[in-house]
Amino acid sequence: MALHPHETGDRSTEPLHLRPQLDRAGETGEVPRFRLASRGMPPATAYQVVHDELLLDGSARLNLATFVTTYMDREGEMLMAECAAKNMIDKDEYPQTAEIEKRCVNMLADLWHASSDERATGCSTTGSSEACMLGGLALARRWRHRRQAAGLPADRPNLVMGANVQVCWEKFCRYWDVEPRLVPVGPGATCLTPDAAAAHCDDSTVGVVAVLGSTYDGAYEPVAAIAGALDALAAGGGPDVPLHVDGASGGFVAPFLDPDLEWDFRLPRVQSINASGHKFGLVYPGVGWVVWRDAAALPEELVFTVDYLGGAMPTFALNFSRPGAQVVAQYYNFLRLGHEGYRRVQQECRDTAAWLADRIEGLGPFALVSRGDGIPALAFRIAAPEPGFTVYDVSDGLRAHGWLVPAYAMPPGLDDMAVLRVVVRNGFSRDLAGKLLDSLGTVVDKLRGGSQSQPDGRSGFHH
Ligand SMILES: Cc1ncc(COP(=O)(O)O)c(C=O)c1O
Repeated sequence: MALHPHETGDRSTEPLHLRPQLDRAGETGEVPRFRLASRGMPPATAYQVVHDELLLDGSARLNLATFVTTYMDREGEMLMAECAAKNMIDKDEYPQTAEIEKRCVNMLADLWHASSDERATGCSTTGSSEACMLGGLALARRWRHRRQAAGLPADRPNLVMGANVQVCWEKFCRYWDVEPRLVPVGPGATCLTPDAAAAHCDDSTVGVVAVLGSTYDGAYEPVAAIAGALDALAAGGGPDVPLHVDGASGGFVAPFLDPDLEWDFRLPRVQSINASGHKFGLVYPGVGWVVWRDAAALPEELVFTVDYLGGAMPTFALNFSRPGAQVVAQYYNFLRLGHEGYRRVQQECRDTAAWLADRIEGLGPFALVSRGDGIPALAFRIAAPEPGFTVYDVSDGLRAHGWLVPAYAMPPGLDDMAVLRVVVRNGFSRDLAGKLLDSLGTVVDKLRGGSQSQPDGRSGFHH
């Protein structure tokens, strides 16, 4: 999480400003902002103080930057509230929550075509970042075992991936001393390509990561072709390199919208897959999943069994205590939507993304980098000839209309290109997409010095 400095000096004694209604009898007194107050306040007062402060947060549904779920049914929310106190690690106290986690892992293994000849194994995590760390750790350990068994040095492992990977993979490499071998992207491809992936592998490569739904533009990497290039590398006497699929978003999209696309355990080279339950799994933040194709893909020494909480259950996780609510909510969604429900939700998102892409293109100053035909996210840049403003100006302009649409440079190799990205999530209706388009048109007019500009040159704020 964000790192925060310790406030000292004058700031350390700065008080919170309480509205007079919240301190009617003067019983609350001065409440320091950065220090624990000597005494507390009534729950209703504390609630209101925190509630008021949170008004400054944005409106999550208008945040088109995030992949993370911002809408759930009331019943799903109720279950989450009911399970807020359940600790996921406490399998003995909450055996049904553990049973529900098991069912979810089974459903995902099945959705990702785990074979009944193998014994797929998986677990829930806090999100895809933790799931990727676990997937990466398993790859690194297996590589080390292979090297040690062959009497070879095992001190300089590397992981091959596109320069477009999400930051969690660079984190994994830095935290566990693995060389991140980032394959540059380029004008022809915004993602990892099969030949480049194979060309970057050597005897010290613990694995290749293919991303199903690139964070930068939503495109699916060609997982089957990458697997094919790695098969050919091994068949030609080169290293036999396993593949992990980072399906943070696509793991919950492709099974429903692209059932014929082979990217999962149908490909023998794919050893493990992660996905975020809290992205297109449609659960509020705090849940991810990782599944290995076979128990053999998960080295035993990474699995811990503890009995402090009663009972004994093998676990693989970076943390210990974790809320059970999100896992329960995932199961609720699986029951509530079923296969057809997920398909309809994701299809609606993809259709809205395509609709938006066509119209954004029609506005004139933009060129589409992706149109939402991977995961439902579209990225667009300023088209030539340059209209005299940047994507950063457009992002700022949209903020004044209440929309959060990020602008950023593409990864190394393409970093002279800056894009805007819109993630179409469950709950971002066609109506809202139409409103976004209206705002975008207004912003473009204003940036071009058109008729919609405010007379004093400042933008008005629209909620
Ligand atoms: C491809 C990819 N991998 C991993 C992550 C990290 O996921 P999480 O936020 O669930 O930790 C993201 C997040 O956007 C992502 O897009």
